[in-house]
Amino acid sequence: FFATVEQVPGDPILGLTDAYNADTRPTKVNLGVGIYYDESGRIPLLRAVKQIEQQLAAEAKPRGYLPIDGLAAYTSATRELVFGKDSELVAAGRVATTQTVGGSGALRVGAELLAHTLPHATVAISNPSWENHRAVFTAAGFKVVDYTYFDAARHGLDFDGMLADLAKLAPGTTVLLHACCHNPTGADLTEAQWKQVAALLKEHQLFPFIDMAYQGFDKGIAEDGVAVRIVAEAGIDSFIVANSYSKSFSLYGERVGALSVVAADAAQSRAVQSHIKRIIRTIYSSPSTHGAALVAGVLGSTELRAMWEEELGQMRTRIHALRAGLVAKLAELGAPEFAFIQQQAGMFSYSGLSRAQVDTLRDEYGIYAVGTGRICVAALNQGNLDYVAKAVCAVSRS
Ligand code: LMR
Repeated sequence: FFATVEQVPGDPILGLTDAYNADTRPTKVNLGVGIYYDESGRIPLLRAVKQIEQQLAAEAKPRGYLPIDGLAAYTSATRELVFGKDSELVAAGRVATTQTVGGSGALRVGAELLAHTLPHATVAISNPSWENHRAVFTAAGFKVVDYTYFDAARHGLDFDGMLADLAKLAPGTTVLLHACCHNPTGADLTEAQWKQVAALLKEHQLFPFIDMAYQGFDKGIAEDGVAVRIVAEAGIDSFIVANSYSKSFSLYGERVGALSVVAADAAQSRAVQSHIKRIIRTIYSSPSTHGAALVAGVLGSTELRAMWEEELGQMRTRIHALRAGLVAKLAELGAPEFAFIQQQAGMFSYSGLSRAQVDTLRDEYGIYAVGTGRICVAALNQGNLDYVAKAVCAVSRS
């Protein structure tokens, strides 16, 4: 049956981890996948998560099916975190939040919803964007186009180019936006720029689809969620937010994400939710219990929530310090041109290294980065920083 099936290339990000795992060099470093590692090079289990996990284990509850749209305590806590405590949209019953299998699951379920309901399924993604955005929307039947986002020469946002391209899109086009910690470039919009984008989206009747996978990883929970607040305040009728707890709770493998759909009123919101449930039922039926119970447990406890916010703050502060450390080391080695790394936000830096240079990093040094030159700064530590800086400096001169 499979005689004609041809091998397809491995995933550009997750495939790197397979190659890294197979590498036997002791000095190897995985700067590919977006994972935060602590100073000892391990994925942290947050104290708040550990505490709630122990409580849940002691209770040892039975594992029935969750409702199709997930654990209610999880979706309501998520709604509050994403839209804010005083959100008028939430108070008006306009936000339908669904537990999903990670942020990727939220993107796919949201894309499926839009593919069935929008007049033309076209999505505009930033150039560049997370490698999987194009794949997810294509798989849901969308036509995917790009909008200008990054100025490679200046290592920063090309905001004029972005506005110009968005203004050319046909009404009804979905626009995929990164709320914060843009993946892969680390170049974010300011609050004033978000206001301009939101006004443009409204004027041109474009549909905002906000991907928020890194809330709390740059400035803080509320600060990193400002795009959602601004789009809400712009009076845009309907939009979507996909969010993930993979990074902010260090719960990568639990696949905890959520899809929040804002509709024009509460009745529309209920109708939309009925479609979302139908979509989910035909893909994976209902979500899993454990990760959502952990997040809901932490967010629902004043004490554990404060502990989590502190731990998230520590991860954020450490990433800023790692950026500064890398830039300082590179400057010391005679490569001051990498100073821009300190201006970028979140886990990633678009290093400007070419595909050939990334290949040399891997082949000669056992350092794994995404082919586009994206490196995960959150995988650095005092033990590998010098090695990485020397290698980056060497390949950048090759
Ligand atoms: C990344 O961009 O590395 C992460 O979001 C992990 C993934 O699923 O690609």
